[in-house]
Amino acid sequence: MMNTTTTLPDWQALKTHQEQIASERMQDWFISDPERYQRFSLQVDDILLDYSKNRVTTETLQLLGNLATSLKLSEKIAALFNGHTVNITENRPALHTSLRNPTTAPVFINQENITALITETLTQMRLFTDQVRSGSWRGATNKAITDIVNIGIGGSHLGPLLATHALSTFSDNSLRCHFISNIDAAHIQEILHNIDPETTLFIVSSKSFTTLETITNAVTIKAWLQHKLGIHTIEKHFVAVTAAIDKARDFGIPLPQIFPVWDWIGGRYSVWSAIGLPLALLIGMKNFTDFLEGAHAMDHHFQTADFSVNMPVIMALLGIWYINFFGANNHAIVPYSHQLTHLRTYLQQADMESNGKSVSHTGEIINYATGPIIWGEQGCNAQHAFHQLLHQGQHFIPVDFILTGNDNNSAFDKHHDILVASGLSQAQALLQGKAFEQALAEAHDAGFTEQQAQLLARHKTISGNRPSNVIFLKKINPYNLGALLALYEHKIYVQGAIWQINSFDQWGVELGKQLLPQILDDLRNNHPDKPHDSSTQGLIQHYKSLRNA
Ligand code: F6P
Repeated sequence: MMNTTTTLPDWQALKTHQEQIASERMQDWFISDPERYQRFSLQVDDILLDYSKNRVTTETLQLLGNLATSLKLSEKIAALFNGHTVNITENRPALHTSLRNPTTAPVFINQENITALITETLTQMRLFTDQVRSGSWRGATNKAITDIVNIGIGGSHLGPLLATHALSTFSDNSLRCHFISNIDAAHIQEILHNIDPETTLFIVSSKSFTTLETITNAVTIKAWLQHKLGIHTIEKHFVAVTAAIDKARDFGIPLPQIFPVWDWIGGRYSVWSAIGLPLALLIGMKNFTDFLEGAHAMDHHFQTADFSVNMPVIMALLGIWYINFFGANNHAIVPYSHQLTHLRTYLQQADMESNGKSVSHTGEIINYATGPIIWGEQGCNAQHAFHQLLHQGQHFIPVDFILTGNDNNSAFDKHHDILVASGLSQAQALLQGKAFEQALAEAHDAGFTEQQAQLLARHKTISGNRPSNVIFLKKINPYNLGALLALYEHKIYVQGAIWQINSFDQWGVELGKQLLPQILDDLRNNHPDKPHDSSTQGLIQHYKSLRNA
């Protein structure tokens, strides 16, 4: 069965339109339309999106909107918010938007009032974070907590990591946050070396409480703690965030210290739940609530704004335009913000685990590209690493530049001006490029011979006409970070809806998990039969020889 989306009249109209405007240059559009910036930018609360430096005209956006309408985007947005079973392969809704909805009206999922569950958990988080932050929570040796270690991976790691780093200036500096995600012992050793067991709180963060990396790390650290402080010390130093309450209890964590998450929250959409506990501990519940409110404001915008002025929808449609009609297979994320260092890895999971799919909802193999490769780095570091490829390489790479108006530190205003100017000049350079004539004139001015100048000018010519968005936050604070992450979540959802894929499962990740036990067993034991391909078998033998050397 083949999906027929590409034969839809609205898809075909976009294809024809792309052929018509592919050779047109944005530079010319800016000259012929002095209002282009006003026309193709919009603001939602403290976030400005300038999408004028994209290969789109008013007609392009109209045609993209038509495609979204014919693929029933409005109904699909309503289905997400109304708790329909959007995750069809796991038979679940995806209700992360409920976590940040301040309404107290009951919402029933499988006969359970999830509003009550969310409110109870927020209260549990408030009580606990107040205790730890005030110093009234005491470790086994009666000392206050100074360090928090989150033990988790994937969605149980990347959101808290991003947010605690981004919002560290909202902490009162009484707590330090650490993250153990990898199974590599070097990672654990590095952290354990830098903490005092008497004043450390460990959060075992795992929705399933079965993830091999997380549980292995938690068991090792539990033994380390017991060795350091004594056998009955877990209660004062371990809490859990999980949907598998019984498993956390079996691990030895008392019930009041187990914070629930639920199967209707996907791991990569869970920072708004108790998975965000490290953030709540670091910045306090008042700030955590602001974080939720910022996301809720973006939810409201997404649900109510017309597609033509809907920020997540516009970003999603631009992505569709490039991926499906220009053949882009990737998207770069370049935040000019040290605080947003971890945004790229967060979005890698959010986007690629959600939309790296090849089968439609109805089981048809799809014959068009879906989720892009997400990559990037913070600017200006990115400029001195890979921007050369953005400017003169042969790949089609749409870029999101993320800028902030204020670095929360006026003593360093000069730095911030340079940071912002750097981001803006990169976006401008991608747009304008450098014409051969200009490069030639520069070579002449520098005194090169005609022959040398001609050669050099060819190397220095930069095509320009390369697309980018600028997402400008007024400042980084809990509210705006919440809104920014919700913006990307909804962009991802819209793209998944148009591609008609399930953005909420991750069966590809499961295969590796299924294969691992056999390989691990073979690494540890001598099996006469060789059930693997010769490559895997050869590498197993190679590892054994290294280990036994
Ligand atoms: O990487 C696969 C995955 O299932 C993610 O979707 C999830 O965020 C991560 O593992 C961690 O899962 P858990 O929270 O159950 O430990």
